[in-house]
Formats: sequence, structure tokens, C-alpha cells
Amino acid sequence: MKILMISPELTPYSKAGGLGDMVASLTLALAERGHEVRVFTPLYGSIKPSPARTPHPTPVQVNLSLSDRPECRVWRESFGKATALFLEYNDYFGGSEIYGDRTDNGRRFAFFSRAALDFCEQDKWIPDIVHGHDWTAGLAPVYLNTRDYDRPLGRAASVFTIHNLLHQGLFDKSVLAYAGLPGWLDSPGHLEALGGVNLMKGGLWHSTKITTVSPTYAKEIRTEEFGCGLADLLRHRAADLVGILNGVDTADWNPAGDPHLPARFSATDLKGKAVCKAELQKELGLAVEPDTALFGIVSRLWDQKGLDLFADIADDLMRNARLQVVLLGSGDKALEGRFLDLAARHPGRFHTHIGFNNALSHRIEAACDFFLMPSRFEPCGLNQMYSMLYGTLPIVRATGGLADTVEPWYAGRGTGTGIVFKTPNHAGLRWGVEEALRLYYDAPSEFKKLRVNAMKRDFGWGESARRYEEVYRWALDIRRLARP
Ligand code: ADP
Ligand code: GLC
Repeated sequence: MKILMISPELTPYSKAGGLGDMVASLTLALAERGHEVRVFTPLYGSIKPSPARTPHPTPVQVNLSLSDRPECRVWRESFGKATALFLEYNDYFGGSEIYGDRTDNGRRFAFFSRAALDFCEQDKWIPDIVHGHDWTAGLAPVYLNTRDYDRPLGRAASVFTIHNLLHQGLFDKSVLAYAGLPGWLDSPGHLEALGGVNLMKGGLWHSTKITTVSPTYAKEIRTEEFGCGLADLLRHRAADLVGILNGVDTADWNPAGDPHLPARFSATDLKGKAVCKAELQKELGLAVEPDTALFGIVSRLWDQKGLDLFADIADDLMRNARLQVVLLGSGDKALEGRFLDLAARHPGRFHTHIGFNNALSHRIEAACDFFLMPSRFEPCGLNQMYSMLYGTLPIVRATGGLADTVEPWYAGRGTGTGIVFKTPNHAGLRWGVEEALRLYYDAPSEFKKLRVNAMKRDFGWGESARRYEEVYRWALDIRRLARP
């Protein structure tokens, strides 16, 4: 199949969170399976020039409307067996921010979707599948059903993946006119929401098939609690909504070959993991204590991740239990401040690093005994899977992809791959941490057993890439019936 991915992030070029990782590794896996895959993504100012990247010979015209046809450039670069296409348009993407706090985000990403489709047509490469990711690509299926319907592009089936329903892309209605889309789309049955337009809603109404990144999240978002105001619409489209668990790029996340680590290790030889722990304790100024339980956190610091709950109980835990904590993250300034204060109050035992640092995130995954992820909701989550592959047991709340990937420990059975708690409150999280400490200090042989269980889990893309192929075929059948 010819597959066009439309994505605002592509690891390693641009990444705000797991979306960039997911799109990159799914693209590589599908291309590996013989499909012709192109991934269209902005050339942000922060992406370094490369001799491997070549410009399309002619400027590309973006047909927003009859009167507004700006030109942009598209750069092409091999991406494994796939092709990355970078959209250069500096007014919108010349800075380093992916989403940022910009007031023109509606126009920026309307332009982005239109440019992706116009480039296909001008390059005479008509995809079978247009696969958009989150609200930034929400207008692509809308275009295919309206302006492009009677053109060759209109034959393409669309698949829209929800990575996070909380961020929907709500903008002023003028975005519709800017995008050159018909006025009738401004109705509650299409894009209208709260007096503006909602780009996520466009993707959900108009795509042939919808996927989200775990089976449990696919069920959760049809409830009022997790539906972020779109539960009705998702129930309406339930027959076309599929939950497929994200895979992991195991070439990038493999403790036996990870170039970021001071020592390598595997499930059959864990000596290197002890070295990673000692080295990280030294590097971050923690007491070098091989036998103290080390807890890691690598996260965006926003409400979703539930880390405010941990900040609330951390002083008490640090006073009453034997543990060390290392946190790498950034986001909410107040929460950043609280974690910096915690580190100041517990020197040698609590380390906070504010920022985004890929190499350090690998070293934390490798060094720790436990990884904390008390998310209030988590569409999939990648870090809990990275943790397990690195023999670091995740402590998670039973939600979304966390519930689908972490098998809970029941004392005495030696089964499980982590600690799972149900309620996202102080008591739930405290129980999770205390359970981890019981496992570590009171049941060391079970701890070792769980570590190996976790490392032996298969989180590669094999099965999930096959499921995406299935959804693509299903979408194509439906589209060909609707538009022969
Ligand atoms: P989300 O996309 O909701 O943030 P995921 O678990 O799917 O959650 O993915 C987060 C990704 O971002 C992981 O690859 C994680 O390692 C990475 N990440 C998050 N914060 C940081 C940080 N401060 N430094 C380095 N990597 C980070
Ligand atoms: C979103 C979600 C996260 C998921 C990622 C990749 O950022 O918050 O749970 O793993 O997308 O799909």
C-alpha cells in the first residue's frame, strides 16, 4: 500500500512526547513490511540541515483557496526504508516550537494538512491511505471528503489516530475560511464546538477509520469521564474505532546495545545494570548505595501524569522509608519548583533535573529499580514499556495503555512485571510505592524474578503493525464502496 503519514512530530527530528516516537517507529515497521510509506512533517527551525536531505525541484503550491495559494518547499530524506518529507514554510515553522503558545496554530496546521495533500498531487503520488495523527492533522480527512472528493486524492481512505484526546485544537471559526473549506462544516455535526471549530472533531467525523493507541483507552474515551466532551461522537463511531497498542523501537531501546549507557546488560546477565545504577548515583550526586531502592521518573510535568500526587506525599516517604528518587522532566512551572524544592530538602537522596534530555532518560531507565507513572489517564504510555525492557519495574495506575502493558505483581506468586494501583489519589499511589518497597526489601528473590519477567516481554511492532495493515485494508474497502 502507499501510505502517507501526516504528523507534527517525528523522532529523532522533532519530539514533544511519545507521538514522535510512535509515528517514527510505526513508519519504519510498515516500510520494513514492504509498504511504500511517506511521512510528512514540518521542518522546524530546530531541525539541523543535512546533506542527505534534498529539495523537491519545484516550489509547491498550497491551494488554501482560489485567492490564497502560497508556495512552500518540501525536502525529501530517506527514513529507513520509508521517506520523510519536510515542509519548509518559515512563517509558520521556522521557529523551534512544535505547538507552543501561538495564536496562529489553527492556521499553521490547516496549512500543514493542505500542504501534505497538495504535495502528493503535485508529485503525482496518490496514496491509498492518508494516516493523520492527532488534531494537527484533523483537517486532512475533511479535505478528502470535501474539496478532494472528486479528484484522484479522494480515492484515498483516511485513518486518524488519537494519541491524546485532551488536546483537540479549538480555534476561531475564521480557520475554516482560511483553509478554504465550505461553510456548512461549521455545524455541531461537523467541526463546530463551543462557538469555534475543533480540528480533532473534524478528524473523528470524517476519517474512514479511527484508531487510538491502546485497547483500554479505546473503551475509556467512550465514557464521559475520559471522553473530554467527545464521548457521544466516539460512541456514535464505535464500530470504526480500534485500539492498537503502540510498539517500541527496540533498536533504540535495547539495554544490550544502548550507546547512552556506561554498561550494557540483558535478562541473562544483569551485572551491567548495577554499574548503570552506581554511575547514575555518582553522576547526579546521590549517595552511591547499591542496596537502596532507586525510583525514576521521566515525564512531561502536566496534570495528566499525576505527579502532583507524588510531590504531595514525597516528603513523608523520604522521611519514613529507604529510597532514592531521580526525576527528569519539564512542564508546569509550579510543579517544577516543587520538585526542585524536594531535591533541596533531601540532598543525596532526591535529584531533580528540569529539562528534556534523551541520553539521560536512557540512563535513568537503565539505572533505576522502579519507574513511577501514576497517570490520571494514559492513552498508551511508552516509558513503562522502556522501563520493563530495561528491568526497571513500573509502578502505574490501571488506566489506558498502562493497564494493557503492566502485569500486576501478587505477592508470593513470582508473576507480574510491575505494581498496578487502581485509584489516582494519595492513598492509591502511596500503596503502590510501599508495595514496591516491600517487594524490593522483603522479597528480593521475587523482585529478581519480576525483573526478568519484565525484560522478556515483547513490545516490538510485529503484531501492532499487522493490526494497522488490517485497519488500512478495512478502510480501503469502505472507501472504494463509497467512492468507486
Ligand atoms: P507522553 O507522550 O504523554 O508524554 P509517553 O510515555 O508516550 O508520554 O512518551 C513520552 C516520551 O517522551 C518518552 O519517549 C520519554 O522518554 C520522553 N520524555 C518525556 N519527558 C522527557 C524529558 N524530560 N527528557 C527526555 N525524554 C523525555
Ligand atoms: C500521547 C499520549 C501517550 C502516548 C503517546 C504516543 O502523547 O499521552 O500516552 O503513548 O501519545 O501514542
